[in-house]
Amino acid sequence: MAPDRTAAALRTADIVERFVSSASPAALGIATGETMQQPLAEIAGRCQRGALSLASTEVYLLDEYIGLQPDDPCSFANTVDRLLVGPTDLSPSAVHALNSHNPDLYAECDAYERRVRAAGIGLQLLGIGTNGHIAFNEPGSSLASSTRVVRLSEQTRSDNARSFPDGAQPPAVAITQGIGTILMARELLLVACGQQKAQSVARAVEGPVTRSVPASALQLHPNVTVVLDPPAASLLAGGASTGDFGVVPSLDCRATGDDRGSPSVCREFRRGLRGRRDDGGYQRA
Ligand code: GLP
Repeated sequence: MAPDRTAAALRTADIVERFVSSASPAALGIATGETMQQPLAEIAGRCQRGALSLASTEVYLLDEYIGLQPDDPCSFANTVDRLLVGPTDLSPSAVHALNSHNPDLYAECDAYERRVRAAGIGLQLLGIGTNGHIAFNEPGSSLASSTRVVRLSEQTRSDNARSFPDGAQPPAVAITQGIGTILMARELLLVACGQQKAQSVARAVEGPVTRSVPASALQLHPNVTVVLDPPAASLLAGGASTGDFGVVPSLDCRATGDDRGSPSVCREFRRGLRGRRDDGGYQRA
């Protein structure tokens, strides 16, 4: 794994560790997808080494495909079972997932939306699609949307085909928390790695808030951290930016663990209540 990506994973795990160690019970929103595999593996490793416990954590998933068998390893629920429940002390009963096998999917959406609202997610992890989606909120989604059944774009299906066995196509429909649901979390953490994410990251962070880039809705949230590897950050205007996320730093490494001390391996910026300036702008972390 590229060291830059490892640094982003370590930083993500640090933020999760800080959150789960300070809240009890901790309501943690989890994203799945390739980007999250290494951070989740790092979190699992810390649990196995006794440095972290998820015994008081409740985990809420963002989305799920419709049409996969319950035991399909590509389902997001099974991914979380494999990456987190198996290797850690996270209780299976503390994992809340969308049940895409409920014969009444509308009731499922409604019940899940209520469950997430009642839980009050403290920290929500997010990936981003190459078309700017978050969870499975595709371009065109209302920025106020709630949990619902959605049709996936061809772009997303073709991007996600890499996670499916040879030749298998991802389902065309899914169930997802809405953008409005996601924005209710107290803190958001977006993680993106790789050149293929550079354009959607730049549009989300520095472009206008628009339903054609669902991740741009993060600009409406007061407490967001964005962790990027350098390729994913490569199209940002950099230090010259005065966009809504404030100055985007050409930040040196904030990595920990094995990569401590190596230069420039991940980039991070945040805006938050603590970082808010008097003039309403935001400063780097
Ligand atoms: C997927 C998922 C998202 C995920 C994002 C990025 O389609 N629905 O929850 O965060 O897109 O995925 P990846 O990390 O595999 O690029």
